[in-house]
Amino acid sequence: MATTETTGKTTPATDDERLAQLKEYIAETREKENPDSFLIAVLHRCQELYGYLPVEVMDEVADAMEIPTARIWGVATFYHYFNLTPPGQHVISVCLGTACYVRGAGQLLQAIKDELKIDVGEVTEDGLFSLQPARCLGACGLAPVVMIDDKIHGELTPKKMVQLINQFRRQAKK
Ligand code: FES
Repeated sequence: MATTETTGKTTPATDDERLAQLKEYIAETREKENPDSFLIAVLHRCQELYGYLPVEVMDEVADAMEIPTARIWGVATFYHYFNLTPPGQHVISVCLGTACYVRGAGQLLQAIKDELKIDVGEVTEDGLFSLQPARCLGACGLAPVVMIDDKIHGELTPKKMVQLINQFRRQAKK
C-alpha cells in the first residue's frame, strides 16, 4: 500500500499557546475577511489547533470577536465539518472525492465503520480512532485514499485498511 507523508502545521504544545495563536489569528484576520467568512475561518483555525471546538475556547472566541456565543454554536453545529467533541488519538479521514469514490471509497468507508463499530463523526470506545469524511486530499493518483493523522495512505482495499487499523492497535499496546 502506498504511503506518503504530508507536512502539517506545527501544533503548539500547550493550551495557553494554542489560545494565544488563535487570538493572534483573530486579530490578524479581522481586517481581511468579510464578516460572513470571518467566523468560519476562525472556527477552522480553532479546529486545526485543538482538533475540535472546546466550549471554553468558544467563550474566548466570542469575547475576542465581540459576538454572542450562541451565534458561534449556531454556525459550528450547522457545518458537519466541525467537531464538537475531542477526536480520537488517531483521526481517520476517508476521501470521498470523485476519483476515490469511483475506485471504492464507499466500500472502504463501510469496512472502517464495520471494523471500528463507529459511524462518521464518532470516536471508538477506547478513544483510539475517530472517523471523518474528507474531500479530495490531493492524491487522486493513489485512489482510494485515506489520511490517518497527517499521513496519506493510498491504493487501499477494505482488507488493507483493516490491516492498517490493526497496525495502529498494535502500536498503541506497546
Ligand atoms: S479524490 Fe481522493 S485524493 Fe483526490
